[in-house]
Amino acid sequence: TRIGILLSGRGSNFVAIAEAIRDGSLPHVEIAIVLSNREDAGGLEAARAMGIPARAIISKGMKRAEHDALMIQALRGARVELVCLAGYMRVLTPDFVGAFPGAILNIHPSLLPSFVGLDVQQAALDFGVKVAGCTVHFVDEAVDHGVIVLQRTVDVLDEDTTETLSARILVEEHKAYPEAIRRVVSGDYTAVGRRYIRLT
Ligand code: GRF
Repeated sequence: TRIGILLSGRGSNFVAIAEAIRDGSLPHVEIAIVLSNREDAGGLEAARAMGIPARAIISKGMKRAEHDALMIQALRGARVELVCLAGYMRVLTPDFVGAFPGAILNIHPSLLPSFVGLDVQQAALDFGVKVAGCTVHFVDEAVDHGVIVLQRTVDVLDEDTTETLSARILVEEHKAYPEAIRRVVSGDYTAVGRRYIRLT
């Protein structure tokens, strides 16, 4: 399966996916292209260092529909079959979602449906939750809403700050994303309503 990674920043989830492919724990998957909406994304640099095709398609000053059209074109050009958002800080247009039906994944650093949007680790601390975590889910037209592929949890500690909690969640993200991709490309799972379950 040819995957395309969309990112806007550091790219640690992208690196975790690339490493899982490299060490053989994510078979039958190839990163066809890494796309960023910002030239200064660390993830682009990391991709180039690994010899993975990487391109910035700058979104600044561009209409959303126009930018998404360029992204779709680049993904199609790379013959991408599964799109993986990894810290891509833009909401996709319905046209984008429709261009890859059932084939866009996202990772979110909370246990959905709690804490959608931004700064969710801080929001979780502010709410006083005792368990936090991350979610890999399919992308639909609503933000942080699609069918959940898998979640991983961490305990919230009394002494946690946003930084320490985010770092502990990130460790789980780096396990969750490769595993979620493995499940999705395996063909062993299916969505029954909102439940993504193993075929027997
Ligand atoms: C992660 O916390 C991810 O869950 C969120 O954005 C962050 C991206 O981190 N969507 P990185 O760029 O993969 O290091």
